[in-house]
Amino acid sequence: MKPKVYVTRLLPKDAMDRILLNCDAKVWEGELPPQRDVLLENVADVEGLVSLLTDKVDAELMDRAPKLKVVSNYAVGFDNIDVKEATKRGIIVGNTPDVLTDTTADFAFTLIMSAARRVAEGDRFVRAGKWKTWGPQLLLGQDVHGATLGIIGLGRIGAAVARRAKGFDMKILYFDVIRQQKYEQELGIEYAKLGRVLAESDFITIHANLTPETHHLIGPKEFDKMKKTAILVNTARGPLVDNMALYEALRDGKILYAGLDVTEPEPLAADHPLLKLDNVIIAPHIASASVVTRTNMGLIAADNLIAGLKGELGPAPVNPEALHNKQQ
Ligand code: DGY
Repeated sequence: MKPKVYVTRLLPKDAMDRILLNCDAKVWEGELPPQRDVLLENVADVEGLVSLLTDKVDAELMDRAPKLKVVSNYAVGFDNIDVKEATKRGIIVGNTPDVLTDTTADFAFTLIMSAARRVAEGDRFVRAGKWKTWGPQLLLGQDVHGATLGIIGLGRIGAAVARRAKGFDMKILYFDVIRQQKYEQELGIEYAKLGRVLAESDFITIHANLTPETHHLIGPKEFDKMKKTAILVNTARGPLVDNMALYEALRDGKILYAGLDVTEPEPLAADHPLLKLDNVIIAPHIASASVVTRTNMGLIAADNLIAGLKGELGPAPVNPEALHNKQQ
């Protein structure tokens, strides 16, 4: 008998094949996430759950899933999961780090470049039939090369963005709650307090985890500290930035531009004020969305799931101590 699992969305084929080979899997095939009541109903008798960042895995869900051994999140971020609660109950949580680091950093740099050089505006301009001739003042942007980049949160992805920025001769400052001397040496970058990073950077890119402490890390006070020519990029989690404060900063010229892959909420309502501005590029949370990376994320998620079902740790456990709790 294969163990019963619930998978909250269709993953890339190789990952699904691996899951189906090893588990008795029920798969939610909808385009939108399963509704809360559907999710709760379907975890009732499963030992494993493959969740997405759109699924809230909290104490209520765990109460409804008495046999649950493992939650395998198809994402590196796991702010959708109450890990403390899972650990207490001996439920192993897995995520998908490393395989998406470079793909996500590529996209953060895509947003830096696209915002600096007004690529989306240019495209809208051409499509609207407004392109009449080459113009000396047409769609002037900012130089990326030689500018100062401020990285907020210097983990794997922040460091990968720094590596790219070195190729553009950027001066790099970073802020993190933990000083990352390893990366300072490897990348020749400088630690600074958040206020200095905000004040001195031409580009600010966010790579912090979302926790209760980092919620709205960037709000009205932080925008006041930034240069009027600053460009803010967020590929981490939407609620790290106070979106209404961002809207006002962009509208009032407190900063120049923003490039967002994540927003609060997701998706933004069609009439959200940010969508009325020209000086923001918004992508639908696709920083890790390359064919290869999404498959690799799926394979890690499958392996985390399969190991957890056997009471073992997979390739990327978030709370290895859960195993210990289980054994007691
Ligand atoms: C993650 O993995 O946390 C991203 O937001 C989606 O790839």
